[in-house]
Amino acid sequence: MTTVSVALGERSYDVRIEPGLLARAGEAIAPLAGTRPVVIVADANVAAHRATLEASLRAVGIATHAIEVAPGEASKSWATLERVVDALLALGVERGDHVVALGGGVVGDLVGFATAIMKRGCGFVQVPTTLLAQVDSSVGGKTGINARAGKNLVGAFHQPRLVLIDPDVLDTLPLRQVRAGYAEVVKYGLIDDPAFFAWCEANGAALLAGDGAARTHAIAHAVAAKARIVAADEFETNGTRALLNLGHTFGHALEAEAGFSDRLLHGEAVAAGCGLAFAYSAATGRCAPEEAARVAALWRASGLPDGLAASGVQATPARLVEHMRHDKKGSGGRIPFLLAHGIGRTYLDRTVPLEDVERFLATAR
Ligand code: GLY
Repeated sequence: MTTVSVALGERSYDVRIEPGLLARAGEAIAPLAGTRPVVIVADANVAAHRATLEASLRAVGIATHAIEVAPGEASKSWATLERVVDALLALGVERGDHVVALGGGVVGDLVGFATAIMKRGCGFVQVPTTLLAQVDSSVGGKTGINARAGKNLVGAFHQPRLVLIDPDVLDTLPLRQVRAGYAEVVKYGLIDDPAFFAWCEANGAALLAGDGAARTHAIAHAVAAKARIVAADEFETNGTRALLNLGHTFGHALEAEAGFSDRLLHGEAVAAGCGLAFAYSAATGRCAPEEAARVAALWRASGLPDGLAASGVQATPARLVEHMRHDKKGSGGRIPFLLAHGIGRTYLDRTVPLEDVERFLATAR
């Protein structure tokens, strides 16, 4: 068992990573739940995992209730939030109780937000079942839903009390989803850890082929990196946590153009976005071209898009830049870009003129 602590004072919690952990989740949750029942929120895609989790809770004498939500991004909505909160209230959930979010980022974000506002905050436990949720969204307490005006525009910081990661659940995850999650794994190497990037170059193929040891190592390493960054900047105020947005400004524009649909998964957009951030950094003399080429080569070797052309998005540069202009991270008309001086040397640059980015995108097509 690997345990990573997210050190946030009185909001501190553990992230436990261990193959087969789902079947023992009850033992891990019991100290939090005591004699109270536990409500599990999940979608139908993870029905088998829910059965395993319920059995593990029953085995330690904890009663369970379940709330099912529809699979997919559409569940991060006011309507589903209302339904989940009403269901939690009807089940008599109290402030000291713990609701379990079992699933990918959609369920984690939704349940995190529902429990943030339920009786002004009750406990929740993340049991992420996608690689992307395991290495990113389940850790750090960003929760929320989408609004008509854009993704994740309504939400709260609300830390889970425990995160349980079972790498074996990835056995049944479609390879495309594993690849998309892997983009977020590699991102930690690109941000500030060149040795981990080199590890990914050497071990990525094994990880994607299902090698359990490689998977567990990558998840534990990524979670430790995320925990460090979140502990340094829980509320994204000093620039440290913003580093996690590497690839997201370019990527968000591509996702927006693809309508936030299965045409381009979030992780695929992050891969293409990181490729573009490095290519732009190289094109503007910030980073050596060989470094940008290494990034693109890793994406290609992993079956991920390495830039604009491979993303399949056909939009004009002007249109992509228009999406960037509406990025929620912008302030005072400036969009902060995560750029790089090299692999593991990402930094926040607030001086990038969007016209320059538009010219670059014209060459990147
Ligand atoms: N997913 C980015 C963050 O947690 O800050």
